Amino acid sequence: MRISRRIAANVFTALLILAGPYLHAQATNYADKPPLLLGAAWYPEQWPESQWDKDLSLMEAAHITVVRVGEFAWSTMEPSETQYDFGWLDRAVALAAKHHICVVLGTPAAAPPAWLTTKYPETLRWDENGVRDEHGNRQQFSFTDPKYRQFAHAIAEQMAIQFGHNPDVVGWQLDNEYANPSFDPTAKAQFHQWLQKKYVTIAELNRRWATAYWSQTYDNFDEIPVREDGENPALLLEWKRFVSDTWKSYSENQISAIRPHADSRQFITTNTMGWFDGFDEYTVHSVLDIAAWDDYIDSDHYDYISNGATHDLTRGYKQKNFWVMETEPAFVNWRKTNTPLFKGEVRDMAWQAIGHGAETVEYWQWRSAPNGQEEYHGVLVGADGTPVPVYDEIKKTGEEFAKAGAALAGTSPHADVALVNDFPSRWAIDFQRHSAAFEPIGEMLAFYRPLREQSQSVDMISIDAPLDSYKVVELPGLNVISQAIADRLIAYVRNGGHLLLGPRSAMKDKYNALQPERQPGPLADLLGGRVDQFYALDDKIPVTGNDGSGTASIWAEQLSVQSPDTKVLMTYGKSNGWLDDQPAVITRQVGKGSITYVGTWLDDATLDHLTAHLLNEAGVKPILPGIPAGVEVCRRSGQGKSVLILINHNTDAEHISFPSPMRDLIGSQDSAVSAVDLAPYGVAVLMP
Ligand code: GAL
Repeated sequence: MRISRRIAANVFTALLILAGPYLHAQATNYADKPPLLLGAAWYPEQWPESQWDKDLSLMEAAHITVVRVGEFAWSTMEPSETQYDFGWLDRAVALAAKHHICVVLGTPAAAPPAWLTTKYPETLRWDENGVRDEHGNRQQFSFTDPKYRQFAHAIAEQMAIQFGHNPDVVGWQLDNEYANPSFDPTAKAQFHQWLQKKYVTIAELNRRWATAYWSQTYDNFDEIPVREDGENPALLLEWKRFVSDTWKSYSENQISAIRPHADSRQFITTNTMGWFDGFDEYTVHSVLDIAAWDDYIDSDHYDYISNGATHDLTRGYKQKNFWVMETEPAFVNWRKTNTPLFKGEVRDMAWQAIGHGAETVEYWQWRSAPNGQEEYHGVLVGADGTPVPVYDEIKKTGEEFAKAGAALAGTSPHADVALVNDFPSRWAIDFQRHSAAFEPIGEMLAFYRPLREQSQSVDMISIDAPLDSYKVVELPGLNVISQAIADRLIAYVRNGGHLLLGPRSAMKDKYNALQPERQPGPLADLLGGRVDQFYALDDKIPVTGNDGSGTASIWAEQLSVQSPDTKVLMTYGKSNGWLDDQPAVITRQVGKGSITYVGTWLDDATLDHLTAHLLNEAGVKPILPGIPAGVEVCRRSGQGKSVLILINHNTDAEHISFPSPMRDLIGSQDSAVSAVDLAPYGVAVLMP
């Protein structure tokens, strides 16, 4: 049938009018997105469609420019097996675009629908004791199960076919907060295959794991038990590595469904949980485009140093700017007592994220769900669809993002000092803490705090990251070390780098076996010293040195010096007899570089002094000297620009003057200033 051009044109115009609200001529392409995005998790499937426009109008008024949609909506997207319904999602994305809001789509794999787990119970997760999950709640799936992966692939593929070229969709979030491994028969069989691939023969595994101990010798790979504690340390470490590889292949399964149908401008990521150590984030991030994390305060108060460290940790997964995919609009619902952030701290936290390299800050969640497990969680808008008090603070933040965005475009943090985070080492220490208070994250933070306060910029990196650009590299607890890593560290020092090792360093090989040489194993020659013995401490003991006196706690290694040019920087005072007057910190100059070994957990003030000493030797300077305690300085630079973000985390106002005037980008007027007054939780964004 032939249709005249005129009729066709009329039909087209009529279609356009009908589709009116859902078609958006100037789509928000990610390439044209604002440089700083403010966003929220939006669950349109929970609300009548007639209410969407009001929600989106309120978002637009708050300068919200991105929403994350779709995660957990599996039962709405695929109400019954292979019957897909994306019409509602299509309309939600189009309506968001009409409000100049772009979209990150979540694959719904963290919340399988009831029809799936009922018909295919093998997709359900087993716990360590062999108990299979019931349907309900979320994350009740087995991450290895082939059937589950098939369904997760299919829904991701259908979504990508539908939205992979949609200009308003800027990226994809896989699943939600990967967390629990499964101990089902498939997982166990895959673990055994994984071990066989790695060790080839059971004899090699027996040798590396030293299985003669407690008669653990295996004849076959499938005899090997699967547990998360109480087993041979080599087995425990390999299980974690297997779990990491499995989350990686779990991601790849969905990536292979999305990528062929998606524009390359659409990124693929997942949202992580800060210091969570269930798997190695570097392994999983090797297949993701960007890193993203969910920034929640899990204690009674917002500790900005520790929160900043987690931003730096996340930035280190891909060594580039990242997203805060979720954060709290003042409070959560899952702590014992869900006290709110103080008024002003929500904005403070948002700017801290940007200062540490976030490109986006998204609140969880936009609007109270009408029902469900999280009715009490903080939101921007109540179930009635009108703003709650924190909305205004977030709106103000959005206005500021819009003002400062252009200056911050193309910039990121840069640091002269790096702190190494190593998952195998953290696991290895955790499996056998020996001193209950030896908490690997606490140890990382103990070293991070003075570095951040004094240098004002720290990269947190994997041990595999390039080291050459850093003046100082600290390894608070690199317990597990291979010869290849030791060789790189030795080369770093010989090339003029300053290396600091914390207690328990270089004690184990990569199979979690004790090194055949005394600690720090392959680094002992370079150090010209070694650990003669380690001791758990139940009380503080004195330490003294040129930079002052203080205390050590939790763990103390009795060090000795083997080379005439290795110096003792600190010595233990009277304690258990073994440690009395013995070296606690030793250092050796190697050409222009140095290696320092800290054998104990020092009190904050003493570690401050030691850090100052090291940074001074290495020529590391703060970005902005003379800043009052509690005021954080962040710098982002790039494309010939440099932007400073100053945040007053104190409850008192602070006056800060600068050596030369700077442009105040978010103040009442965009002008050059030579000082700023920061109110409690106040922020200044400045361009030198
Ligand atoms: C996150 C999760 C969200 C929501 C939030 C509440 O861990 O990803 O879906 O449950 O916690 O704080």
